[in-house]
Order: sequence, then structure tokens, then C-alpha cells
Amino acid sequence: MNTLSRSCWIASALYLTIGMGLGIYMGIAQDHTLAPAHAHLNLVGGVLLALFGSYYALAGSGVRRLGVIQVVCANLGVVTLAPGIALAVQGQGEGLAIVGSLLALASMLLFLTVVATQPRPVSA
Ligand code: HEM
Ligand code: HEM
Repeated sequence: MNTLSRSCWIASALYLTIGMGLGIYMGIAQDHTLAPAHAHLNLVGGVLLALFGSYYALAGSGVRRLGVIQVVCANLGVVTLAPGIALAVQGQGEGLAIVGSLLALASMLLFLTVVATQPRPVSA
């Protein structure tokens, strides 16, 4: 495991912990208004960061610089998209959700670039 993959997995577990907490809160409160924020925190945050962490664990240090930029961008996307969706579904503006969407999209394009330009085959 390298530092980049470890940071992805820590972030993933953190997002899933908060996302599950929100899910439990919604269940107890019987108010599912924030379900889209919960869904995207768990999926764009928890699931995608785990995916990135797995890739970087396999890829090793060959993708370091672009990989760090990609992971920073992905985390900025999560911390703006999930609260942005929460604000949007409560009618408090869509600006943050739009910023988060663009950051999430940018991080995925960067990931595509990282994977497609990987200089050598990924080895376990
Ligand atoms: C402690 C764990 C969790 C609890 C208590 C929980 C609870 C909930 C609740 C109450 C809803 C709203 C359901 C509705 O309005 O129909 C919901 C929706 C959702 N949850 Fe969770 N959840 C948990 C974990 C997760 C995880 C780990 C993921 C994904 C990795 C996830 C993905 C989703 C998705 C995608 C929806 C939206 C479903 C839809 O709109 O049809 N949840 N969850
Ligand atoms: C740029 C990133 C993304 C944006 C802007 C976005 C936006 C949206 C929107 C507007 C909805 C409809 C919500 C509603 O009807 O209340 C939705 C639903 C959903 N999205 Fe995303 N999405 C993004 C990324 C993703 C990703 C990467 C995943 C999975 C890994 C995902 C999984 C889902 C699921 C499961 C639903 C249905 C659950 C729900 O209604 O809350 N989304 N998304």
C-alpha cells in the first residue's frame, strides 16, 4: 500500500461513516429528504474513493503527480457535491451542487487520463 491509496481508503471509510450516520438519522427521523445527499456521499465519496485507492495500490508510484491532483479534486468534489445536494433539495440554492458536480466530473476525467496514460501494465 502507498500513501496515495491509503489516503483514498481513509477518505472512503470517513465518507461511508458519515453517510451511514446520515442514513441512520433519516431512518430514525422518518424524513428521507436528504436521501440524494446520503446516496452521493456514499457512492461518489465512499465507493469511488475506494475504487481510486484500489487502482493506486495496484499502479504503485508510477502515476504519482497526476494521481495526487486527481485525488485532491475527487475529495473537493465530494465535500462540495454532498452538502450542495443537501442544500439544493431543501431549496437553498444549487450553486454548491453545481461546483461539486463539475469537480466530480473533472476528477473522473483526470482518472481516465491517469488510467489511459499509465506507462506500464498495472501489477499486483
Ligand atoms: C447504516 C447504513 C445505511 C442506512 C441506515 C441507510 C439508510 C437509507 C435511507 C433511510 C434511505 C432513504 C430511502 C428512501 O427514501 O427510499 C437511503 C437511500 C439510499 N441509500 Fe442508504 N443507508 C445506509 C447505507 C448506504 C450505503 C453504504 C450506500 C451506498 C454505498 C447507500 C446508498 C443509498 C442510495 C443510493 C439511496 C437512494 C435510493 C433511492 O433513492 O432509491 N446507503 N438509505
Ligand atoms: C457529477 C456527479 C453526479 C451528479 C451531478 C449526479 C446527479 C444526480 C441527480 C440530479 C440525481 C437525481 C436525484 C433525484 O431524483 O432526487 C441522481 C441520482 C442518483 N445518482 Fe447521481 N450524480 C452524480 C454522480 C453519481 C455517481 C458517480 C453515482 C454512483 C457511483 C451516482 C448514483 C446515483 C444514484 C444511485 C441515484 C438515484 C438515487 C437518488 O435518487 O438519490 N451518481 N444523481
